[in-house]
Amino acid sequence: MNQAKLFFSLILVVLLLIFGAWLVFFFQWSAPMPRSATPATVGVAPAPAAPAVAPAPLAPVFNPPAPEDAPEQIRPMVMLGYKIMTETKKYAPEYVGNGMACTNCHFEGGRSKDTISLVGVAAKYPLYRARREYTADLALRTQGCFERSMNGKAPAADSQIMQSLLVYYQWISKDIPIYSTPPWTVLAHHLENDHKPDAEAGATVYKDVCARCHGDDGHGTPIAPALWGDGAYNDGAGMHRIRTFSVFAWRFMPKSSPSLSQEEALDVAAYVHEQPRPKFVATHPNKIERVIPLPGEAKQ
Ligand code: HEC
Ligand code: HEC
Repeated sequence: MNQAKLFFSLILVVLLLIFGAWLVFFFQWSAPMPRSATPATVGVAPAPAAPAVAPAPLAPVFNPPAPEDAPEQIRPMVMLGYKIMTETKKYAPEYVGNGMACTNCHFEGGRSKDTISLVGVAAKYPLYRARREYTADLALRTQGCFERSMNGKAPAADSQIMQSLLVYYQWISKDIPIYSTPPWTVLAHHLENDHKPDAEAGATVYKDVCARCHGDDGHGTPIAPALWGDGAYNDGAGMHRIRTFSVFAWRFMPKSSPSLSQEEALDVAAYVHEQPRPKFVATHPNKIERVIPLPGEAKQ
């Protein structure tokens, strides 16, 4: 009888010991570990790392802040950047070679969604540009629009004009997750439409729909900027591509009440493409080495 009691007491003790050891283990492992602690200072093997669950990427939300709401330290630069966008000839006269302002294509200084929007552009760059085979930052990209869309000269990266534009882009990109590609900043590369652009049909579309604002001669009116002639973008500009022009015209023209069919947009793009405009002349070295070999890789 006594022997049986002793036997059961022993089992009870063993069970308690196992339970106690489990408790010690449980609390040591689950106690929060300070960020700086190494396993050696904690004294137990670290818990196996939790499986890496990538947080869901934040979806970019379109909500650009107003230039005048910028924090005091950057407000003068943001305001100057905004003025360069909207009154380019007045605030960057040496760099403009036609009658255009940035806002003529990037409506409301790029703050609109219904345009080639620049909201979030600071979260997208620097990026690789397949067309030119190099990685560009926003200064380089902006120089391209000055030389081509504005038929002018490229302001230096360290100029006040360029720096103000960069500060402005950054401000209107506030809260857009870095490296996201906000869907509204992507002008589709072409319309999904097999229609063959017909310049002759486009001449009729131009006369019927566009001329009342852009002028019978396409040289612009007080209501709307030039589409061709000396006051327009040059033949190196993105807008001089039929596919870019047709997407822009189909999505955004006439301004505030777009009405073209995709076929009409392609036709009018072909018609405008045939009209005379300034020739692109590069004013700064545009050739950038695509791949600079790292030391030791030179022979490959
Ligand atoms: C004639 C129309 C036109 C004018 C004027 C113009 N741009 Fe552009 N801009 C474009 C087009 C077209 C693109 C390329 C859009 C695309 O391919 O998605 C572009 C792209 C850009 C981009 C890169 C946007 C991105 O999401 O990658 C920036 C920045 C820019 N322009 C700044 C300017 C500035 C600053 C000015 C004035 C100095 C200006 N642009 C004037 C047509 C224009
Ligand atoms: C109701 C007037 C109106 C009509 C009609 C109109 N546009 Fe525009 N368009 C504008 C205005 C205004 C701008 C400049 C917007 C700004 O500065 O905010 C513009 C800008 C443009 C631009 C970019 C700037 C430039 O001059 O290169 C293109 C391209 C364009 N329009 C093409 C067309 C085409 C093609 C048609 C006909 C299908 C058309 N527009 C009809 C008012 C109009």
